[in-house]
Amino acid sequence: MTRTLYLISSAAPPARQASTGIRAAQARGWDVCLILTPSAHRWAAEDLAAGDGLGDLEALTGHPIRHQYKLPSHQDVLPAPDAILSAPTTLQTLTKWADGHADTLALGLLTEALGLDLPVVALPYINAAQARHPALPRAVATLRGAGVRVLLHDDHEPVGFTPHRPKNGNVDAYPWQTAVDALPVVAP
Ligand SMILES: Cc1cc2nc3c(=O)[nH]c(=O)nc-3n(C[C@H](O)[C@H](O)[C@H](O)COP(=O)(O)O)c2cc1C
Repeated sequence: MTRTLYLISSAAPPARQASTGIRAAQARGWDVCLILTPSAHRWAAEDLAAGDGLGDLEALTGHPIRHQYKLPSHQDVLPAPDAILSAPTTLQTLTKWADGHADTLALGLLTEALGLDLPVVALPYINAAQARHPALPRAVATLRGAGVRVLLHDDHEPVGFTPHRPKNGNVDAYPWQTAVDALPVVAP
């Protein structure tokens, strides 16, 4: 049975390589639906020639790319999720998520997922200056306490993302596969 994964990408540079994460999850048997924050959607709308534009990503997933709440009168266009991967997760999305903000579709799905007891994995992409903001450790502790596997490499997490020096990020080293490996195994 194919299981549905919602990949929720916020506006950090690895979002421009979302196809890498999608392919890694598809290789593990997931039917991937991509949801973008409004900022990440603006980026994808511009990446028309890069292979990670909206049309490419829709073709790759076979689903519409969602980035805003539907109108109450509209039908759901995506199947319900069996698991959620937030990647990349920005400082903004991580802290708003932990505080229960739901003012975008991405945050609405992320906040609600905690109460639905879905498996949820988050792979941040933040620099070391952002990582020193006092809201970050609070958010990470809150989300971990709620059952989210936050793949920020620290005393609690042996694998995952290590913040880089500002302006020295390496999107090609972003560990998409580690995030996919942290998801439940899909039965064949
Ligand atoms: C070129 C560029 C690179 C950025 N890189 C990061 C980043 O690596 N991590 C991060 O947390 N925010 C980064 N930001 C800032 C976020 O895009 C910004 O906070 C945005 O409001 C996040 O919104 P979202 O979490 O709803 O996608 C970057 C912004 C720009 C324009």
